[in-house]
Amino acid sequence: METRIENAYSGGVPDKKVILEAGRIIREGELVAFPTETVYGLGGDALNPGSSKKIYEAKGRPSDNPLIVHIADTEALPLIVKAIPEKARILSEAFWPGPLTMIFEKTDRVPSETTGGLNTVAVRMPENRAAAELIRASGGYIAAPSANRSGRPSCTKASHVYEDLKGRIPLILDGGDSVIGLESTIVDLTGEIPVLLRPGYISLASIRERIGEVTRDPAVNGSESGERPKAPGMKYRHYAPKGELFLVKGKCDNVIKRINDMSKEAGDRGLKTAVIASDETKDAYRADMVVSAGSGKNEDGIANRLFSILRQMDSEGADVIYSEEFNTPVLGEAIMNRLIRAAGHKEVNADDEDSHRK
Ligand code: TXA
Ligand code: MG
Repeated sequence: METRIENAYSGGVPDKKVILEAGRIIREGELVAFPTETVYGLGGDALNPGSSKKIYEAKGRPSDNPLIVHIADTEALPLIVKAIPEKARILSEAFWPGPLTMIFEKTDRVPSETTGGLNTVAVRMPENRAAAELIRASGGYIAAPSANRSGRPSCTKASHVYEDLKGRIPLILDGGDSVIGLESTIVDLTGEIPVLLRPGYISLASIRERIGEVTRDPAVNGSESGERPKAPGMKYRHYAPKGELFLVKGKCDNVIKRINDMSKEAGDRGLKTAVIASDETKDAYRADMVVSAGSGKNEDGIANRLFSILRQMDSEGADVIYSEEFNTPVLGEAIMNRLIRAAGHKEVNADDEDSHRK
């Protein structure tokens, strides 16, 4: 199948003709990748079981891993969810449209193919204008996971989607670089006490400010703890670059020294080495490739560049990658969640003299 790329915008507004055509493709049961403010999504008609099957196939994704249903208007909610809890209403007023996904009890209108067999459904209303127009043009309900091949870093540019899905889908809408670059925050509102299933751009603190107590799914950082995550997708290895990634923690000077030691040792073995650093530290590293995620004080910038940097390391053939920790105040939890999982939990404590590479 030939994969076309079309501009989603013309003259700064969603291109009507392109969006209408993309909507027709989705209504006919085919797939279209499209921009959202978080990351690019791979969209199909959420109410058509055949479309959801195609999404799993195109991504190479296990079919027990449910899809998020994207809507453009709150009026679309009652058709797909059994009830709208008061706390969900408060959060939707505060954060929709935007990078928040909420889990509800689903109605029979949502096929079990879309929800990976669960009787709940994840719903998000994206803010990106082309996404909203596309949802309306497609009949109101687009099921969309992130548009990467399963296990790879999410896509924050149309070119990333092309890299992963070329020949597998008919159309990619190019909306430029994702404004946020990290996936949405996921909160489950089906129980008495809401549960954070995936940290994202909207922090847990700002959610608690609106609705009080919210717990964290204990398996939020993946399955290492032995717990079964409530968001099935969190149990899979994810975001992984092709090179082996190590997350190096500790005091700044120790981290620099440890990364330089590890990098030298790997270089001596003939491996191509890479470091993910910040503007403040990048000049202190010796490796084949040093990439800064931006100033350590600019957390939006770090979040925005992370997936793109992991993909850059792949395209430049890094064999081993060392990353600093980015424990920033608001987005640190989400950034570290992605990095820990991209590293497959390979963490090194640079403050510990005796810690050897795991
Ligand atoms: O920002 C985002 O959320 C992006 C854009 C495209 O909207 N989408 C995205 O989708 O990140 P995906 O499929 O890559 O991640 C969705 C996560 C998965 O971990 C999945 O298991 C979980 O949401 N999920 C979906 N439906 C669920 C449900 N009913 N219950 C629990 N977890 C669910
Ligand atoms: Mg994903």
